Amino acid sequence: LHAELEENGLSFYVGGDIQQLTLHAEMQTSNRLHFKIFDAKSKRFEVPHEHIPTVKSDYTSPISDTLEITNNPFGLTVRRKENKKILFDTTMAPLVFADQYIQLSARLPSHNIYGLGEHVHQRFRHDTNWRTWPIFTRDAFPNGGTHNLYGHYPFFLCLEDESGKSFGVFLLNSNAMEVTLQPAPAVTYRTIGGILDFYIMFGDTPEQVVQEFVELIGRPVIPAYWSLGFQLSRWNYGNLTEVKATVERNRAVDLPYDIQYTDIDYMEDKKDFTYDKVKFRELPQFADYLHEKGQRYILILDPAIATSKRVGDTPYDSYDRGTAKGAWVFESDGKTPIVGEVWPGETVFPDYTSQNCIDWWVDEYERFYQEIKHDALWIDMNEVANFQKGSVKGCVDNKLNYPPYTPKIIDEVMYSKTLCMDAKQAWGDHYDVHSLYGYSMVLASEKALERVFGSNRTLLLTRSSFPGVGKYSGHWLGDNGANWNDIKWAIPGMLEFGLFGVPY
Ligand SMILES: *[C@@H]1O[C@H](CO)[C@@H](O)[C@H](O)[C@H]1NC(C)=O
Ligand SMILES: *[C@@H]1O[C@H](CO)[C@@H](O)[C@H](O)[C@H]1NC(C)=O
Repeated sequence: LHAELEENGLSFYVGGDIQQLTLHAEMQTSNRLHFKIFDAKSKRFEVPHEHIPTVKSDYTSPISDTLEITNNPFGLTVRRKENKKILFDTTMAPLVFADQYIQLSARLPSHNIYGLGEHVHQRFRHDTNWRTWPIFTRDAFPNGGTHNLYGHYPFFLCLEDESGKSFGVFLLNSNAMEVTLQPAPAVTYRTIGGILDFYIMFGDTPEQVVQEFVELIGRPVIPAYWSLGFQLSRWNYGNLTEVKATVERNRAVDLPYDIQYTDIDYMEDKKDFTYDKVKFRELPQFADYLHEKGQRYILILDPAIATSKRVGDTPYDSYDRGTAKGAWVFESDGKTPIVGEVWPGETVFPDYTSQNCIDWWVDEYERFYQEIKHDALWIDMNEVANFQKGSVKGCVDNKLNYPPYTPKIIDEVMYSKTLCMDAKQAWGDHYDVHSLYGYSMVLASEKALERVFGSNRTLLLTRSSFPGVGKYSGHWLGDNGANWNDIKWAIPGMLEFGLFGVPY
């Protein structure tokens, strides 16, 4: 189905209304409807997803059984074809499509709504009494507040009735947005860029919806058997002697734990691809020490790379080689690396959306693996986190750094705790690709793991994520305070990541 939409003369307050839109819709399988609404005249940002373009549509029966269009005002009605039940009805409110403000509302058939992320949801089933959930990746504490966290998941599942029949709604859009759940029941999306690219998946059960969703975004990786065992990690063991003492204490009581981690305190001055030659002097032998008892060792890497020229007595080659390859995210001029501050102090930020950067990252990882043998990789701070607001120079006043409408994200400043939105990456402006930073780091890290481990199973664990990371990575629910509430909230958190295709 293909249709052209004309602007109806009502102009929205933020300006930049797009006059002509194209609607394209297709049934991709008997259980998956895809519809896309975009600028008819000029190309806007679209998520360069690693898996979705490989999915073939092989369904030919009429779309009219599922989708109906209303004109003046424009609306879409999605029905379940067996019983004609209306599942997603946008005729309840007009579509707004401006350059930096896109709004769509839809009436839903029930209040049984699950998903949307990443946030702490204190209950699995959503409250539909005017709750607004902002979506934009951000390094923030999962302390029970309603703010946006590390991952970006514009996906929800709606359980229609007691029969178990369910459908899922996925908006493939990486821009900052907010999703409001209303008593009608209904949902309103407000996103400040990209296009409306929706996938609606129908199931006889919630499980079938998830099966259809993971077929679209990439089925989850089968984890290594050992990665299902107990694991132990903490920030700041301080030295390897202390790590080993911890391992020994657990061995002494026969605790069946399989994996020991080290956080950034193993590094020299918290710099990636280095280790502390004093406090962690015997780290090169540490994996062997664990392997002797059938245990595994996982270490951490962060994206931000220190701009220091030296590490102790030696040059910091990882930074120099990345600079030589142009591996960093650039300022708006497209050539000056944007500088911020993370754990090691002043840093640049790898642009994992560029092939040069991926090559550099794979190469650095392979070199480091030769030095410190380990079994798997833990990646953190990839929202991407920055302790400076935007950059050490701040951010200029323009429509990317200060859009006409900012969704209700934490701090309500787009570049707070991250990079300026006008920074440049190979996939586009940071404004559009910000929430894909962790996703692109996962894709690059997967290449690094393939280089080092070949077809042997390993594990990748990421803090920031986007639909599709489950194909390669697991996720942990972040930097919680390890209190009783955190244990309780982990239950909806884990159930939600099951819906999102990240069961690990
Ligand atoms: C190692 O760290 C522990 C815990 O912080 C500390 O008590 C101990 O003195 C340190 N040992 C060495 C050899 O630095
Ligand atoms: C894969 O695992 C086998 C068995 O442990 C090992 O011999 C081999 O070296 C591993 N391959 C790589 C590329 O690590």
